[in-house]
Amino acid sequence: MIGFSYRSGVLHAEGVPLTAIAAAVGTPVYVYSTEALEHAYRAYAQAFEGQDAGVCYALKANSNLAVIRTFARLGAGADVVSEGELRRAMAAGIPASRVVFSGVGKTRTEMRTALEAGIHQLNVESVPELEALSEVASSMGVEAPIAIRVNPDVDAKTHAKIATGKKENKFGIDWDHARAVYARAAALPGIKAVGIAVHIGSQLTDLAPFRAAYTRVADLLHQLREDGHDIRRLDLGGGLGIRYKEEAPPDLPAYADMVRSITGNLGCQVTLEPGRSLVGNAGVLLSRVIYVKQGLHRRFLIVDAAMNDLIRPSLYDAYHAVLPVTEPVSGVEIAPIDVVGPVCESGDTFALQRPLPALAADDLIAFGSAGAYGAVMASTYNTRPLVPEVLVNGDAFAVTRRRQTVEELLAMEERPDWQG
Ligand code: LLP
Repeated sequence: MIGFSYRSGVLHAEGVPLTAIAAAVGTPVYVYSTEALEHAYRAYAQAFEGQDAGVCYALKANSNLAVIRTFARLGAGADVVSEGELRRAMAAGIPASRVVFSGVGKTRTEMRTALEAGIHQLNVESVPELEALSEVASSMGVEAPIAIRVNPDVDAKTHAKIATGKKENKFGIDWDHARAVYARAAALPGIKAVGIAVHIGSQLTDLAPFRAAYTRVADLLHQLREDGHDIRRLDLGGGLGIRYKEEAPPDLPAYADMVRSITGNLGCQVTLEPGRSLVGNAGVLLSRVIYVKQGLHRRFLIVDAAMNDLIRPSLYDAYHAVLPVTEPVSGVEIAPIDVVGPVCESGDTFALQRPLPALAADDLIAFGSAGAYGAVMASTYNTRPLVPEVLVNGDAFAVTRRRQTVEELLAMEERPDWQG
């Protein structure tokens, strides 16, 4: 993980020892590295240099304002899926003119907000949504620039819960309906179909499914042009995987070459919507050991982070490295242990039988590759307040979201009058 390394025996984020962050902010806490974020963004920019291609960062992966701002300063656009994310993008300095609005269930209110802001593009995923957008745009006297998200029926070969491009998935317009839906769009007032969008899934570690999907999209583009549609944009979605453990995801130059080979002569502006590959390996979740429990059959490392803070292991059986903040000395005994949180569910397990050096109460550990789909998927289950987020830059760090308090949680609720 770029941005994270042991120095003098202590795990650092850039120049800052994680022990210092734990002392100042407490645990659990998400820690992100500016250097890693910038490195990941620049890798995209460099790989696609010379192509008419733009990066719209998928905010859903990590929508902390300071993280978005880091990308905004490098020229990124944004891919958003709610009014909330649109407002975050704009608050972080990404103008709506660089924002793509995706998602299967945009409400009329969200459509209006996006059009008022001057959104670059809305990716439409159904005929009822298209009709609703036509009504909203017409009532405002504007034309909505849209891409239609098509479902290419390609197996992304990733975890079932994050595959989106098979015909049984809820996403996009069925391949066989695509031409008819573009015809419908052309007939509707307030709609201007300018592009085709596709996204087949997340954490893809092979180029082949991307290639298959993009080739289908290129075929569709030719058909649509023959049908008389002036399609000038291709939105190729996100999905490039990262290394959590031993995965070997395709490198960006190879991905960019593949994109160029398929889209280079199509006369289209290409949009990419990466999320995970920009932030995943730029963050850790820092946590403290509460107890080490020796059971009859197993040993348990009980830490102060839980499934509500990082749900990926419970939800997707995802692997996250467990890094002791104090560097293990070479030759130290390694033994398997279950790493678990304090929440009252067996699913609150980060790692089963993970080989680790002996750790004791109060020791710090960091869960690796936690920058994507970590803090954003957190909940307050078990009335555990949302944990803070810290951004490191060189020798400096800043709390970019403070720790929520129990008082704030309770203040949102009221007892009805009749309960006295
Ligand atoms: N564009 C669209 C339309 C998407 O649905 C997604 C992710 C992305 C872009 C960004 O994909 P990425 O580059 O991050 O793979 N919570 C899951 C991942 C869900 C991904 C949903 N869509 C996880 O923790 O693995």
